[in-house]
Amino acid sequence: MDGLILVTGGAGFIGSHLIDALLLSGSDVRVVDDFSTGKDENLDEAWALAAQGGAGLQVMEGDVRDEVRMRDAMEGCEAVVHLAAVPSVAQSVEDPVGCDSVTHGGTVNAVRQAVEAGIPRFVLASSCAVYGDATQLPIAETAATRPLSPYAAAKLASEEVCADAADAGQLAAVSLRFFNVYGPRQDPGSAYSGVISRFLAAAVAGEPVTIFGDGRQSRDFVYVADVVAAVLAALRRPLSGGSVLNVGTGRGADLLEVLGVVEQLAGGPLQRGMEPARDGEVRHSRADAGRARWVLGWEAQVGLGDGLPRTWEWFAAAAGDDGDGPDGEDVGPGGGAGPAPAEHARG
Ligand SMILES: NC(=O)c1ccc[n+]([C@@H]2O[C@H](COP(=O)([O-])OP(=O)(O)OC[C@H]3O[C@@H](n4cnc5c(N)ncnc54)[C@H](O)[C@@H]3O)[C@@H](O)[C@H]2O)c1
Repeated sequence: MDGLILVTGGAGFIGSHLIDALLLSGSDVRVVDDFSTGKDENLDEAWALAAQGGAGLQVMEGDVRDEVRMRDAMEGCEAVVHLAAVPSVAQSVEDPVGCDSVTHGGTVNAVRQAVEAGIPRFVLASSCAVYGDATQLPIAETAATRPLSPYAAAKLASEEVCADAADAGQLAAVSLRFFNVYGPRQDPGSAYSGVISRFLAAAVAGEPVTIFGDGRQSRDFVYVADVVAAVLAALRRPLSGGSVLNVGTGRGADLLEVLGVVEQLAGGPLQRGMEPARDGEVRHSRADAGRARWVLGWEAQVGLGDGLPRTWEWFAAAAGDDGDGPDGEDVGPGGGAGPAPAEHARG
């Protein structure tokens, strides 16, 4: 696929890596982002790639709920990757109406505008959160969905919007249920999904790490480059109708295990603050990635042994760049990693 791809939420953690990969493969990219959690500096690499002349990048500041903006953004696109959302469980609990409006309402608008523009393919960033506390591991797509937060409910509703359009023959829709994504550029301010970024941010800043509960809760941590590869496959594979696919490694790691690797990278033990387990927190999560292997020919390639050092390097470099390191806060949005904010650069 060499044509123009619209990426909503492209200035975010996952989106910016996706854009780099799309540009490298020769696709032109248009971004719609309101920069609520996205950052200009996440796009530095993309601008550098676009400047080399192989493929073009255009960044539109805007809200995915804005009908006119999204209609304009769809013009000439071959496919849409819809990543824009309020990606915080905690924030969705604090402001369920606002978060639903962005995550679910934004998807309604994005799908509608894509259909009206005649765009044949729509890829949605969904989440393993739709499963809630699964009773059986690994979790297959056929498992019951039991959203435990407004965030998870909004993701499930977004999948339904995609499935409806696909069932009506309006486009091919792929909902990718990302498990716990980690990698360079992840903001450590995220309370739930960003535990690796919080550990790394604390480690490079020489601050204590906080562990909720006994630290034996486990997750399927998937490296961002693998997630990008899954999205690229979802764009490029000949598919029709609607698909729902897990994007995880199929392997689980508990938090103490992750912390052990981080301590090796940091060159010594980190001070640990133990807090009570959080209400409603899922105990174990691990993907059955068989369907994605079958449908997309995709399989995660990067284990924690490779992905953690790569992520560590970025956090360490970012801390060096801005002098005081990423924010090591344990909960709540707003912590910032990476270089100091730059001027918005728009193409
Ligand atoms: N990171 C993970 O572990 C993970 C896991 C499962 C699902 N996801 C999903 O993947 C997607 C990307 O997540 P991320 O980790 O890169 O988060 P992120 O916060 O870095 O990216 C989200 C992007 O969406 C933009 N955005 C938010 N509201 C918007 C609006 N109304 N209009 C336009 N843009 C808006 C933000 O500015 C940001 O650039 C999200 O949909 C998230 O729910 C992420």
